[in-house]
Amino acid sequence: MNKSTLLLAASLLPILSACNALAPKTPDSPVTSAPPAAWVDEARQVAASVPPKLMAVLMTEIQQGGPAHAIGICQTEAPKMARAASEATGWQIRRVSLGNRNPKAVPDAWERATLQEFDRQQAAGADVAKLERAEVVTENGQQVKRYMRALPVQAACLQCHGSADKLGPGVAARLNELYPQDKGTGYLLGQIRGALTLRQNIQ
Ligand code: HEC
Repeated sequence: MNKSTLLLAASLLPILSACNALAPKTPDSPVTSAPPAAWVDEARQVAASVPPKLMAVLMTEIQQGGPAHAIGICQTEAPKMARAASEATGWQIRRVSLGNRNPKAVPDAWERATLQEFDRQQAAGADVAKLERAEVVTENGQQVKRYMRALPVQAACLQCHGSADKLGPGVAARLNELYPQDKGTGYLLGQIRGALTLRQNIQ
């Protein structure tokens, strides 16, 4: 390549990346602009499969025994389902939140930054159902695939995560018993309650 083609290539670069930014995005395209690697699609599918299963269990329990009863079920079933999904898929899976209810659901630095970015995007009017982030990060010399998907507050969540007037009967008292440090109430419809977070080491 001679000098002029090099120059040409350099001057084309910004134009090409601008085109890339303008390219139509698939509904599920990640927050990052790089084309999704195969592992991102895999993580996305795993992340999409877990929350509906948990909500189905919770909704059945709410119908049978009310929301205050279902809180205890969520406490035992949510970690169990995350563990089962982890064993079935090879991804470490958990839930985290900036306003965590379970004392263990505290985000690490990468997760915290991502949740803050999700909140910013939500406030700016983004479609909350599509907020996600995928990135390969290096932690202590180990490359790790990391993926997060936002869990927005839907109407059904308010009876256990909403403001005091929206909580179901007996919920506040039960939460007080099981989670004396609870920060997981006071949320409004459409806000980001937390996220599902997946990680897997690259061999
Ligand atoms: C029946 C009550 C109930 C309903 C309904 C409910 N949750 Fe929760 N949620 C809980 C409980 C209890 C925990 C703590 C579980 C634990 O100890 O791991 C929790 C934890 C979470 C967490 C994990 C982070 C944390 O704070 O510990 C997220 C994220 C979350 N809920 C999102 C949602 C979303 C989104 C919805 C609606 C789609 C929802 N929840 C509906 C009771 C509920």
